Amino acid sequence: MISKKMQDALNRQINREMYSAYLYLSMAAYSEHVGLKGFAHWFEAQYREEMDHAMRFYRYVFEQGAKVTLEAIEKPPAEYASPLDMFEKTLEHEKAVTKMISDLTDLAIAEKDHATQVLLQWFISEQVEEEAHAAEILGKLKFVGDHPNGLFMIDHELGSRQ
Ligand code: FEO
Repeated sequence: MISKKMQDALNRQINREMYSAYLYLSMAAYSEHVGLKGFAHWFEAQYREEMDHAMRFYRYVFEQGAKVTLEAIEKPPAEYASPLDMFEKTLEHEKAVTKMISDLTDLAIAEKDHATQVLLQWFISEQVEEEAHAAEILGKLKFVGDHPNGLFMIDHELGSRQ
């Protein structure tokens, strides 16, 4: 059993994970539009991961006998200045999600809610990976700058994401 306060916080997190999915699908759509198929592939994979995150919280709320309430999903940006801009926004977004997971963990600790703490442990590790991946790609994009050959190589590499 989880508290009403925790139920509401987890429902908000379902919404934010859905927004994350929507944000990355928007970046996939933008990438596809400008002909960067590898970037589009990477962001589509990211979109699916975020849907999985949302569904982990969704299933958990039901497993705890609580109620899922879905709210409207915020509209993501449709235009981006460049691949660099998308990855700056990706890293910034993941840092904000890390803060949300940290706040949820603080709440679970304050409520002595051990089950939710176990759920959140997985997300704490996942956020370390998410930030590291985004930072690595951002670093490469900064390194190649405006060189089309470098961008093409990164597009090719992102297109091989499993
Ligand atoms: Fe669900 Fe990218 O954090």
